[in-house]
Amino acid sequence: MLRRLIVGNWKMHKTISQAESLINDILKIYQPHPSVELAVAPPFVALQAASRLLAVTSIKLTAQNVCAKDEGAFTGEISPPMLREVGCHYVIIGHSERRHIFGETDQDINEKIHAALRHSLLPVLCVGERLEERQANQTQSIIQHQLQTGLDGLQSKDLAHITIAYEPVWAIGTGHAATLDQAAEVHAHIRSSLAKQWGINPDQTRVVYGGSVSPDNAQMLFQSPQINGALVGKACLNSESFVKIAKLATSD
Ligand code: 13P
Repeated sequence: MLRRLIVGNWKMHKTISQAESLINDILKIYQPHPSVELAVAPPFVALQAASRLLAVTSIKLTAQNVCAKDEGAFTGEISPPMLREVGCHYVIIGHSERRHIFGETDQDINEKIHAALRHSLLPVLCVGERLEERQANQTQSIIQHQLQTGLDGLQSKDLAHITIAYEPVWAIGTGHAATLDQAAEVHAHIRSSLAKQWGINPDQTRVVYGGSVSPDNAQMLFQSPQINGALVGKACLNSESFVKIAKLATSD
């Protein structure tokens, strides 16, 4: 089985000093396990402080977004080389809040994926349907479209560096996670789409779930071998609940 990845997406929470406290609290109680990789994605301004605290640990620093350009007149943007230099390992790309609040298009997301890979940042590509799309039985076609456009132009060897996060929009921040069956079904679809399109081994693609993951439902979700980890929002802002989710993700 693939090593599970648990990423804490802090979103727009925590100042630098609050970020340091949260990381110190995580470090106090977290016991690494070979079957799980832990990652945190603080806001940009806290990355440097987080990087210093995580330097001698196994916890991977992650950015919440990235610009597709390397440098230039792009006010307010952060480039892949900046993220590399501060110590980022992963970068979340195409989160539903970026797509729906900030209007990121499939084309933007595709450019970001290419930019991240050019600079050896590992993308966590988020895909997911809205409630009305699920109700109209469009889940599979929406996901298929997001995968195809997001990964357009990549070679099959690039797929080894990509994690897909299935985040149904209706489950994000609502307290209503997908059921095990709902998540496992879409994860299987993601795997088979990628295998078909890229000719890769479906079992080698890491697909994590996001959307109201908590210590109360993580055990249920991790029952499925289809679910290779979690992208955690609210529950990652508390050290105990975040570390508990990581613990529930371990396997022998
Ligand atoms: P919640 O865990 O708060 O639902 O957020 C999920 C998410 O968007 C992670 O990227």
